[in-house]
Amino acid sequence: MPRIAYVNGRYLPHRDAGVHIEDRGYQFADGVYEVCEIRHGMIVDLSRHLDRLDRSLGELRIAQPMSRAALVGIIREVARRNRVKNGLFYLQVTRGEARRDHVFPGSDTAPSLVITAKSTDPKIIAAKNANGLKAITVADNRWDRVDIKTVGLLPNVLARQAAKEAGAQEAIYVDQRGMVTEGAATNVWIVDREGNLVTRPAEHGILRGITRTTLKDVAQSLSIPVVEREFSRDEMLAAREVFITAATSICFPIVEIDGKTIGNGHPGTFAEKIRTAFFDIAEKTAI
Ligand code: PDD
Repeated sequence: MPRIAYVNGRYLPHRDAGVHIEDRGYQFADGVYEVCEIRHGMIVDLSRHLDRLDRSLGELRIAQPMSRAALVGIIREVARRNRVKNGLFYLQVTRGEARRDHVFPGSDTAPSLVITAKSTDPKIIAAKNANGLKAITVADNRWDRVDIKTVGLLPNVLARQAAKEAGAQEAIYVDQRGMVTEGAATNVWIVDREGNLVTRPAEHGILRGITRTTLKDVAQSLSIPVVEREFSRDEMLAAREVFITAATSICFPIVEIDGKTIGNGHPGTFAEKIRTAFFDIAEKTAI
């Protein structure tokens, strides 16, 4: 069955799906995106993802491609046409197609909208949760507006590739002061010596992850204290547990960083407890 994508008003097989060579997403990474999990036929935390999309569009002054109701209709249709019960959808809005010029095109330029969906294998995810992942640290060399979820991900691509070449699965950014910011495509958490869940405050240094936000609700429901404060690479290496969160991975334990074992080298109990409770708390919208 060919995968079907929505591209600017049409549902097309991937081989026929494309945007124009002068799309500003292609030329300038002038666009934003969202990735959202689909689990057991439910879209997880859809409202929060679409709220963040609105914010990203607003920060870059890109017009809304359509109403939220229309957008949700298309997301559902793409998931349905691809028969995705467990997986994710990807949504990208760019400033649209215009003759190449750095300044914004005229207000009559329609934004481009692409939505795709794909299935993921729950067995692979379960294995990652059972075994834990390895990570490396890298210098955070990104721009200072990583709070906007833009498609300008080249530093993130290079960091993930460096992780892969080092036999790891995630790269964790460390700023010039030695403090952890976030992963190449995840937020980072530690369990500190006092048993607090610690994550960096969501200012401009990190993306305000939706999974991160929902996880705070989950922790509250489990009476686990959450502290939003910066932590250093050294503190992370000495932490009882380290885990990363994203819509694509919910809560993956990290058992080794830069070749150093974290905790006892096995996935920790906090990460597991949180993952189990996550879907009871998260908003679920039927496809
Ligand atoms: N990435 N930080 C960065 C840099 C990210 O790219 C992501 C998500 C997150 C976690 O955000 P959320 O919990 O809303 O998924 C944090 C997506 C999954 C991606 O680029 O594929």
